[in-house]
Amino acid sequence: MKYKRSPMEPYRIKMIEPISQTTRREREKILREVGYNVFAIPAEKVTIDLLTDSGTGAMSQDQWAALMKGDESYAGARSYYRFEASVKKIFGYRHVIPTHQGRAAERILFEALLKKGDYVPNNIHFDTTMANVLVRHGHPVNLVINEAYDPKLEIPFKGNMDPSKLERLLRQKKGRVPLVLITITNNSGGGQPVSMANLREISRICHRYQIPFFFDACRFAENAFFIKEREPGYNQKSILEIAQEMFSLADGALVSAKKDGLANIGGFITLNDEALAEKLKHLLIISEGFPTYGGLAGRDLEVIARGLEEVLDLAYLEHRINQVRYLANLLEEAGIPIFKPIGGHAVYLLADEFLPHIPRDQYPGWALTIALYRESGIRAVEVGGVMFAKKISQKGKLVFPRLEMVRLAIPRRVYTASHLEYVAEAIINLYKQRNKIRGLKIIKAREPLRHFTASFKPL
Ligand code: F0G
Repeated sequence: MKYKRSPMEPYRIKMIEPISQTTRREREKILREVGYNVFAIPAEKVTIDLLTDSGTGAMSQDQWAALMKGDESYAGARSYYRFEASVKKIFGYRHVIPTHQGRAAERILFEALLKKGDYVPNNIHFDTTMANVLVRHGHPVNLVINEAYDPKLEIPFKGNMDPSKLERLLRQKKGRVPLVLITITNNSGGGQPVSMANLREISRICHRYQIPFFFDACRFAENAFFIKEREPGYNQKSILEIAQEMFSLADGALVSAKKDGLANIGGFITLNDEALAEKLKHLLIISEGFPTYGGLAGRDLEVIARGLEEVLDLAYLEHRINQVRYLANLLEEAGIPIFKPIGGHAVYLLADEFLPHIPRDQYPGWALTIALYRESGIRAVEVGGVMFAKKISQKGKLVFPRLEMVRLAIPRRVYTASHLEYVAEAIINLYKQRNKIRGLKIIKAREPLRHFTASFKPL
């Protein structure tokens, strides 16, 4: 899908946040000081921050107004009921349990459901989901369709799970699969959507084997947009109707509200199972808070309630998706290798193609994030060998993930078309001098989720 014209923002700007400019020399010094890890760069020293689309969005005037209505009662706050109603309208499940963000929801759900040695299938696990399975001594398994690993193949629903892979796992690991997850959109696989037909099929299999089926649903509205755009029979349906239909196929959802909740913090678990909900609420009280606030302020609940309404707006979603396409098209026209088709929340650069002279064990994706920051002050994130490589043998032999990418995640309602043009120009310039970029060596790392805190040395 081409998007040549810069899409017009369906909002105007009421408040501004200055952007800092730094010199190349300053950035080189910062990189040395932070051990060549972009997570350790102070945000003040970043010109355009595409590290994540999570919690980095701008709130609307109605969300700022909603903040003032926050009820900060410990138990049974008015804001909780507003939040609950907003979640129920879209998701339709009986219980709504707030958490401070998505990974807290993961931790609590897995604590309740997983036993040591259990298997948790997903299309592709996101890093925190995978880590939360691993810390409970479970096995995260990625069952996305094989086509998902071909970065040039353009098919409409590249986030789909392979039903035959799922059935095989359920047969082989009978009694050892406590739930099936599906991530919409599939963040670790290029932000690709999952079709309604695939969700229906996965749902049927889960019900046949009587295994709870849950969504990792933080970008549900973007997924619904792609279904509306691409799947026969959905063009005339609203985003709300499509979302309701998706969620009707499962038993519950884990949600980080920092994405399509259009909030800066928050998350929730929502589900039908009464007994499981009771268990989750008990776990919640131990570490997150009472079940009507779950580690959030009442005002946060108000903001999420409002955000969940705004994200269903077609004008908002059209602009959002087209903004990502606009950046992707600028890059593609200049011959920059990117993951296709273009996903919902980010453009993914193919780092191994961008830097073919850097071997996988010298982390081309990571090297690209460092070079991008050094040359232009742009911060992106590696989704490749540092984030996902696994040690397999005693000698520490590494297995690298199939895709080596750099994600340019676009925060919601924050940057304009001219910011994206600056990004495209910077990447195109970098591509011209790509031969000068060198790989890196890890000098310190702590598992799991080593990418957040590791230090590196340039080679
Ligand atoms: N699931 C998916 C698919 C995610 O993308 C994220 C977060 C989470 C779960 C965890 O949610 O951050 O609220 O605890 N993704 C961010 C990202 C951090 O940059 O993609 P959280």
